Amino acid sequence: MKNNPLPRLDRAGKLRKELLRHCRLKPGEVWEDPLGRHRVGCLDAADGAQVASLLREESARLAVQDPPYNLAAFERRGVAEYVAWCQRWVELTVDSLAADAALYVWLGADQNDGFQPLADFMVMMRRIPEVKSRSFITLRNQRGYGTSHNWMAVRQELVYYTKGDPPFHVQYTGIPKVLRGYYKEVGGRRTENIERSKSEHIRASNVWVDVQQVFYRMEENVSGCYAQKPLEAIDRIVQASSSESELVIDFFAHSGTTLLSCERLGRRCFTADVDPVYCEIVIRRLERFREKGLLGWQNGHAFEGVLGDETAPAAKSNHRPRSRSARQPTLF
Ligand SMILES: C[S@@+](CC[C@H](N)C(=O)[O-])C[C@H]1O[C@@H](n2cnc3c(N)ncnc32)[C@H](O)[C@@H]1O
Repeated sequence: MKNNPLPRLDRAGKLRKELLRHCRLKPGEVWEDPLGRHRVGCLDAADGAQVASLLREESARLAVQDPPYNLAAFERRGVAEYVAWCQRWVELTVDSLAADAALYVWLGADQNDGFQPLADFMVMMRRIPEVKSRSFITLRNQRGYGTSHNWMAVRQELVYYTKGDPPFHVQYTGIPKVLRGYYKEVGGRRTENIERSKSEHIRASNVWVDVQQVFYRMEENVSGCYAQKPLEAIDRIVQASSSESELVIDFFAHSGTTLLSCERLGRRCFTADVDPVYCEIVIRRLERFREKGLLGWQNGHAFEGVLGDETAPAAKSNHRPRSRSARQPTLF
């Protein structure tokens, strides 16, 4: 396996400066997909004019938002300030949605600080009259963090809201149904649960235990990105809450998972990130997928060929990225 990852880009100031020279987008600019399907904007999610330049009067069926969580990797704000900021991009998101649409937001809860900002965000969402709460989903990470004095933290939270009455397409996991014995009378006959089932597999619930978090050995890994969501999780959301050729939006693109999911599933995606480096990674990830069918760089990186193979500081160590900064975190 190749061993040339980028370090976490939020902590690699010098390298970031070098990468900026290779970025197509400057703040305020929007990249148009030459195939006419997607857009990538270098935009501030909380700026109405910038969001309008991405949407240009179009409305989306689905929004998948994954903002920085007011924890690490983000200039931490007071919780009231953070939630006021969230309210601004939530309102812009809701305005960008069709009359019947879905909104999903990934957000963390700091167990050492009153479960902020998730708890505060949920309360704020009650003030958005256009949407109603539908589900509170937990994705269970395989690896966790914490001390032996507390429960190991393995959860990532995802809240699901709807505007109007959007369609919902039931999703199934790859987990086979094995538990028999739930009987019910149907048409005067006693039936067993497996024969009543629509699938041999368990339906996806609001606890996802079957999705692997991204780490450096996975093909979809995008090194340098510290908060990448698993493609399988985003695919599940996109398939549940949109149909082919419909528009999906994501204002916090980072590694471009939502865009790649939409490309593979035949949706259109308008996505944005405030940072030109992540915008460039997103565009390169899409281009590479179209050219080679690959989902990420595993332990290589998006700027190979531009920086050369030995540019990334993590490249000198042996197979496994040793420094904490080169590993994928579990927190986002
Ligand atoms: C948690 S990451 C998103 C991860 C993404 N879902 C993925 O799978 O790669 C959050 C991203 O939001 C971006 N961001 C922070 N503030 C922003 C803002 N005001 N507008 C747009 N993007 C912003 C950061 O640069 C970062 O890339």
